[in-house]
Amino acid sequence: MEPFSPLSATLLSLFLLLIPLLLSSLLLLLLFQWLHSKNKRLPPGSMGWPFIGETLKLYTQNPNTFFSSRQKRYGDIFKTHILGCPCVMISSPEAAKIVLLSRAHLFKPTYPPSKEKMIGPEAIFFHQGEYHSRLKKLIQASFLPSTIRGSVAEIELLVLKFLPTWENRTINTLQEMKRFAMDVAILPTFGGRWDLETEEITHLYHCLEKGYNSMPFNFPGTPFHKAMKARRLLNDTLTRLIKKRRDSKKLGGDLLGILLGSKDQKLNHLSDSQVADNIIGVIFAAHDTTASVLTWILKYLHDNGELLDAVTREQEGIRRGINEEKRGLTWDDTRKMPLTSRVIQETLRTASILSFTFREAVEDVEFQGYFIPKGWKVLPLFRSIHHCADFFPQPEKFDPSRFEVPPKPNTYMPFGSGLHSCPGSELAKLEMLVFLHHLTTTYRSLSLSLSQSHLLRQAFLDMRSMRNLDENQLPLFLQWEVVGGEDGIQYVPFPVPNRGLPINVRSRNKFSFIMP
Ligand code: HEM
Repeated sequence: MEPFSPLSATLLSLFLLLIPLLLSSLLLLLLFQWLHSKNKRLPPGSMGWPFIGETLKLYTQNPNTFFSSRQKRYGDIFKTHILGCPCVMISSPEAAKIVLLSRAHLFKPTYPPSKEKMIGPEAIFFHQGEYHSRLKKLIQASFLPSTIRGSVAEIELLVLKFLPTWENRTINTLQEMKRFAMDVAILPTFGGRWDLETEEITHLYHCLEKGYNSMPFNFPGTPFHKAMKARRLLNDTLTRLIKKRRDSKKLGGDLLGILLGSKDQKLNHLSDSQVADNIIGVIFAAHDTTASVLTWILKYLHDNGELLDAVTREQEGIRRGINEEKRGLTWDDTRKMPLTSRVIQETLRTASILSFTFREAVEDVEFQGYFIPKGWKVLPLFRSIHHCADFFPQPEKFDPSRFEVPPKPNTYMPFGSGLHSCPGSELAKLEMLVFLHHLTTTYRSLSLSLSQSHLLRQAFLDMRSMRNLDENQLPLFLQWEVVGGEDGIQYVPFPVPNRGLPINVRSRNKFSFIMP
């Protein structure tokens, strides 16, 4: 074996000297990083129990209490742990604006993986960048006021089909509203075409929905397993429908047709699974949300008899015009319902059915003096902002008149804000207006005060003498009344009045009601 040359020996001793130097620098670097991260301040707050965190508290307490107690204790930015994830909750409009708008690129939209699987991973909600903006443009186009204004007559027909099915029954308002909101969602999505596939899609969607909130245990017999099976069948049915459309060469102007016809810059079409995931995604977004808000509207109107009277008067004014001109309700009529619109706005604020939305920090973020580690969920709390007395005095009072003045910027976000804001807001408001028009002009709540029934009685007496009518010629009058009357909230998946707000609906002759 050859001995080392002097040069090799020098190199070796240099190398041996360098090793401890390198190791100590590495150690120093690690120490520096550790000290630095120790100095970074996580927001204050409690992470709750191991694994469960504060999930149970969030879904069993009144949501206002859950958020406000923590806000009082820790301030506008606090940490918690829900649904298996470390989270930072934020409840100031400025901080929400940063997450949703000005630094939105640092906070990607995110859902629990089981929900993503159920809706479909290629649906708009879970994406950012080019794919998201392409989908957003396509979906928005189907729900613009200029597109949906032609649907008023069809939505009206649906309402007129629904309301009579309530007569002389005790109904679960939420379930009924879900049926209604589903039928409305089908209109712009499939152009109102009711064929075998659309029937099948609604049926399968209901099966899927039953497992949506279940624990993700995927073995036979569990609700999650059944829901995933329904999801696969939904995919098959949608694929059949897509094929039928492509083969017929008439794609159609509804959302399905728009998605099928779209090409990107490289002239690529969306794949069948991208189309299917987004159709299911839109039905999911359109359906439970609107149904929950409609249920709250009935609750608030029932609890505020004078307001219900005022809304009824507004709607009866519109009805008189319609009857005189012997026509149906139009888009322009729905633009002349200022009080009813404010009732909807106030319901969206008070009920805040989406208490918050989920984002996730895509990297470590310095945020208003705090450190948010990469991967943590960041939740702008719409509910807390909507219930802040600085922006909405006496926030617990149901008072639509507060919307006579527009709210301050970033304080009112029932439809979200920024790139992911809701493209269906106009459709949601439209269907609520049409529904309320018929509900108030056909039905009466039993919460009339004595003086109100006297006024009503006088009005009917005048009408009878003016038109020379006898009792039997007076139209039927439908009464609705909340059964049980206890307050309380349940989550299905959004917060709604307990037991879905059961109401009892009876038909009566108007005159016999006020002249018992
Ligand atoms: C009162 C009823 C509704 C409420 C309160 C509501 C609320 C919201 C909110 C807060 C967001 C934003 C979520 C986020 O930032 O993460 C959103 C997104 C969305 N909504 Fe609605 N929505 C309603 C009805 C509808 C309807 C009728 C449609 C039908 C088209 C719809 C379709 C969507 C879609 C597709 C998105 C995702 C947008 C995106 O990611 O860019 N929503 N909705």
